Amino acid sequence: MEQLRALASRIRTARTVTVMTGAGVSAASGVPTFRGPEGLWRSFRPEDLATPEAFERDPALVWEWYGWRRAKVASCRPNAAHDVLARWSRDDLKQVRIVTQNVDDLHLRAGTRELIRLHGSLWEVKCFNGCAVGARAWRDDRVPLPHPVPRCPHCGGPARPAVVWFGESLDESDVDRASDAASCELFLTVGTSAVVYPAAGFVRLARSRGAFTAEINLEPTPASSQVSLSILGAAEEVLPAIDQLLASV
Ligand code: APR
Repeated sequence: MEQLRALASRIRTARTVTVMTGAGVSAASGVPTFRGPEGLWRSFRPEDLATPEAFERDPALVWEWYGWRRAKVASCRPNAAHDVLARWSRDDLKQVRIVTQNVDDLHLRAGTRELIRLHGSLWEVKCFNGCAVGARAWRDDRVPLPHPVPRCPHCGGPARPAVVWFGESLDESDVDRASDAASCELFLTVGTSAVVYPAAGFVRLARSRGAFTAEINLEPTPASSQVSLSILGAAEEVLPAIDQLLASV
């Protein structure tokens, strides 16, 4: 309880807050985490399917996996953690930015205002061949998609999920915005194993720029030893508890 009070007090006084989220924030909504026991589809690990090489080899298989994930997420709802963060992001008295590695868009569905999606979205599609027009992602939230491998409407080539795959670079403007968001008074990381870069480096960056840093996770992570305050607990319980403390003063 002491830790929750300490974090609530930091949030109350900070004018700029950045929250970086990972799969743990969506776990209570029923979205499987990547490195948890449900992260496997059939016998494939995400690292086996979420690559340009896997798509080149077997686009139908990769789309089948994404079709399964899209159907799963479509049946999920934002949970209390998304709701609290969305409310904070709409606070007119401070700047609260959410940087997420999640591709499920549950932060958006909860009504988050300032959202930086580092890894793209399950609900957006782009041309695999990178044709001039199709390189810009477009939204397609049909479940199921009508074709096993959707086509780029501009060049007719295969379309792919507009998410960042292993071995690919993140969108430069998203990295710039996230790096900018690391300049804040309070940097909070929630529900991420904190192993995938560059997201994993933002805690250190924020700290080096003078932010107070904190973490909420079910278990210790590589970030735990770097932050000033590490709270072990579920995002969907800890965030509403902090929100209540904020409301009670
Ligand atoms: N509350 C808080 N934390 C939780 C909860 C919960 N209810 N449930 C799980 N966690 C924590 C786990 O302890 C773990 O540290 O969430 C973390 C989930 O870690 P990962 O599955 O590795 O997900 P994430 O950190 O988002 O992965 C980063 O890696 O595979 C890539 O692109 C993918 O965006 C993903 C990135």
